[in-house]
Amino acid sequence: MGMGYAFSYHERTKYSPSTLGQGHSIDWEHPPEQFKEYRGAPVFDMRPYLPTNQPEDYTPERGLNDTEGPFALPRLSMLLFATNGVTGVAYSGQQQLYFRAAPSAGALYPTDLYLAVRDHADMPDGTYYYHVRDHSLVEVYPKGLAPSGEEIFSRLTEACFGDAVVAGAKVALIATAVYFRSSWRYGERAYRRCLLDTGHVLGNLDIVAPKLNLCTTAVGGFMDHEVAELLAIVPEKEGVLAVFPLREQADFPSLAPGPTARPSDATEPEAGADPIRAIHTAGAIRRGVAAQPPAGESMDYAVNPKYEFAAGIKLKPTGLDLTDQIEGAILRRRSTRAFSGEALKLGELADLLAFAYRPDLMLGADALPRLMAPSLLETFVVVNKLEGVPPGVYYFAPGFMEMLSVKQAEVRREIFHLCLGQELARDASVVVIHTSDLEIATARFGSRAYRYLHLDAGHIGERMNVAAMRLGVGASGIGGFFDDEVNELLGIPSKELCVYITCLGRPAG
Ligand SMILES: Cc1cc2nc3c(=O)[nH]c(=O)nc-3n(C[C@H](O)[C@H](O)[C@H](O)COP(=O)(O)O)c2cc1C
Repeated sequence: MGMGYAFSYHERTKYSPSTLGQGHSIDWEHPPEQFKEYRGAPVFDMRPYLPTNQPEDYTPERGLNDTEGPFALPRLSMLLFATNGVTGVAYSGQQQLYFRAAPSAGALYPTDLYLAVRDHADMPDGTYYYHVRDHSLVEVYPKGLAPSGEEIFSRLTEACFGDAVVAGAKVALIATAVYFRSSWRYGERAYRRCLLDTGHVLGNLDIVAPKLNLCTTAVGGFMDHEVAELLAIVPEKEGVLAVFPLREQADFPSLAPGPTARPSDATEPEAGADPIRAIHTAGAIRRGVAAQPPAGESMDYAVNPKYEFAAGIKLKPTGLDLTDQIEGAILRRRSTRAFSGEALKLGELADLLAFAYRPDLMLGADALPRLMAPSLLETFVVVNKLEGVPPGVYYFAPGFMEMLSVKQAEVRREIFHLCLGQELARDASVVVIHTSDLEIATARFGSRAYRYLHLDAGHIGERMNVAAMRLGVGASGIGGFFDDEVNELLGIPSKELCVYITCLGRPAG
C-alpha cells in the first residue's frame, strides 16, 4: 500500500457487507442548513436577466450598460442558473426542497459557487456567493471591507501560482463544498460525495459555457488557505475545490492549465481528528512551496496496456449532434428513479460516451471536457443488456472509442449486490464504473489526487447524465457501493479504487 492519507481515508470509508449500517447515525433533529445567509450584505438580484415564459415581458437589457459583451448579465445569469440553479421544487411537510441543475447524493447539495468579478459594466467589483434559492449574488464582505477587483484577482492569481488565464480573467467561478451538508447523512464517507457532487456542477459549467460563447480552464492546483481566505469561508467547515477563470470563447486556443505545486501531504493526522478535515488538509497546497511548471496533462486518453489486446467492440457515434439544445437537457435533467430492464442500443451508448469523453467527435464541439487529470481515470462498462453485445465487463478506451472485453458473463446479480442492493443497478442496461490506480495518482499529485479523481469522475458522470436526458435515456449516479467487491468484479488489484458508478438504461413507466 502506498503512502499518504488518501490511502487511509479511502480504506476507512469503504463500505462492506459486514459493516454497512454500523457507525454513522443521522441526527434527524438537526439537519444542515441548505444555504448561507449573509446578514446586511449587498445583494445583486440575477433573476431579472433570466428568460421567462412571457417573452413579451422579458426586457433584460433595460437599463444595462452592456447587453452584448461576453459577461453581459443575461449571460452570467444563465451561466449560474444552468450550472447549479433551482430547476425543481419538492415539498415535504413545511419544508421546501430545491432540486438543482446538477444532481447530488441524497439531494444534500454540499457544493457552493462563488463568483469573483472585476471591471464589469453593470455590477460592482466583488466576491459573491451564489445564493441558489434566490438566484442572486451576495457580496461576502461587509460594506466598506470588500477588496477591490484588482486586489481580488491579484490574490487569486498569486494563489493559483501566477496562472495566466486567472491573471487575465475578469470573471472567475470558484467551487467549494460545505462538508456537514453531506456528512450529516453520510458520515466520514461524505468527502467522496462532496467531490463527486461538485464534479457534476463543474460538468454543467463546462457544457453550458461554450453555449454562451464562454470557455474556461479547470484550475485544481491553488494555495488552499489563500483562496478560502479570499472567500471568507471557514476552512474547518468548507473546502475550496476548484477555480474556473472564464474567458471569451475566442480565447480558447490560448487556454492551457498553468503551474501548480505539490500538497504538503501531511503525515497521519492525530488520533481522533475528523477524517474529512484530515483528507482535505493532506491534499492542501501551502503558501511557500515551489511552483512546478504546468503538468502538461494531456487530454489524450491512454489505453491501459493490460487490456490492449482484448477483443474490441467499436463504438460508432450515430452522427447526432447532442450539443445542439443541450442546455435544455440540463434544465430538464432529473435522476432516473427506476429502469425498465430493457436494452439500450449500441448507438445510444456510443453517443453517450462520445459526448462524455470525446465531444470533439461531434459536430459543433471542438474541445474535450476541462478535467483536472483525465489520464488518471479508467472506465469500465458493465453490460447487463445492450443490443448486440454479450453481457459482461468491458474496459472502455475513449481514445479509440472501443469497448475491450474483460469478462463475458451474466453479472447482473453481482452489480446489483455491490451497489448495496439498489434496483437501479440491476435494471440498468449498462453500468459505467470509474476507477483509478491510487499509487500512480498520488505519485503525481500527492493526496490532492483524491480530489482530482472524484471531481473528474463526477464531471464525466454529469456529461453522461445530461447526454442521457438529451437522448431520452435514463441515468443515475451511485455513490454507495461495496468497494472491494467492485475490484473483484472488474478483476483489478486493491491499489486501484472504484471512484464512482453511473447507471444508464431505459426509464421505467
Ligand atoms: C454523487 C452522487 C451519488 C448518488 N448516489 C445515488 C445512489 O446511490 N442511489 C440513488 O438512487 N441515487 C443516487 N444519486 C442521485 C440523487 O439521489 C439525486 O441526484 C438527487 O436526489 C437529486 O435529484 P435529481 O438528480 O433528480 O435532481 C446520486 C447522485 C450523485 C450526484
